[in-house]
Amino acid sequence: MQTICIVGGTGAEGSGLGARWAAHGHRVIIGSRDEAKAKSTAEALNALTGGKNVAAMDSRSGVKEASVVVLTVPYSAQKPTVEGLKDVLAGKVLIDVTVPLVPPKVSQVQLPESDSCVVAVQKLLGDQTKVVSAFQNVSAHKLKDLDYKIDCDVLVASDDAEARQIGIRLAGDAGLRGVDAGSLANSVIAESLTSALIWINRKYKVPDAGIRITGLPAV
Ligand SMILES: NC(=O)c1ccc[n+]([C@@H]2O[C@H](COP(=O)([O-])OP(=O)(O)OC[C@H]3O[C@@H](n4cnc5c(N)ncnc54)[C@H](OP(=O)(O)O)[C@@H]3O)[C@@H](O)[C@H]2O)c1
Repeated sequence: MQTICIVGGTGAEGSGLGARWAAHGHRVIIGSRDEAKAKSTAEALNALTGGKNVAAMDSRSGVKEASVVVLTVPYSAQKPTVEGLKDVLAGKVLIDVTVPLVPPKVSQVQLPESDSCVVAVQKLLGDQTKVVSAFQNVSAHKLKDLDYKIDCDVLVASDDAEARQIGIRLAGDAGLRGVDAGSLANSVIAESLTSALIWINRKYKVPDAGIRITGLPAV
């Protein structure tokens, strides 16, 4: 079992993933800029999962305690958040869920000049932190419905093969299928797909369109 700190874990995506990992038996730390907010989220997740696996901390303390850190903050907060935690992220695996959405046109791909915002984070952090890209295409909508089988694969990309395997295992522990999507440069695919999924949700009036990779052996 891992100790996972979710920076931005008070939000919809982070708290949903945290609920599933806590239910699976991982120790989850909700990291926040506001300890009271983190505490209230942790209490709600412990009540939901009927356990005590979820704790609350300021993000810096949480990252220090964790072996795996998950980043679930809006794109506008991604770079400043990572810069502020750079020293404590050294030696950790960082799973970055950020989608580079630029409101209000979130159903239209607007990639940054550097293409992938997750590759940009790996460059910012350097080799000391192994960055993994995952979960960008998983809607928060049903994550807290713990028995609900979410119909979406998770593309997991990283330049570190071992870190990629950690991402794939954590997708499985959240009840999803993680698919090895190769090097971190391929993160741009998952980052771009989300805008199309948001468009599809609106067009077809559904809450959580997802993706499936076909042609793989059944798991
Ligand atoms: N929601 C989805 O369905 C979904 C699906 C796939 C991917 N994603 C991606 O996952 C990430 C999180 O999504 P979300 O919907 O959970 O986001 P969110 O609820 O808007 O924000 C998550 C958390 O980020 C922190 N935060 C917000 N503004 C910040 C700022 N200016 N500086 C630092 N921290 C800030 C807040 O935590 P504290 O106030 O506690 O610090 C907040 O609770 C995004 O990049 C999103 O694109 C979301």
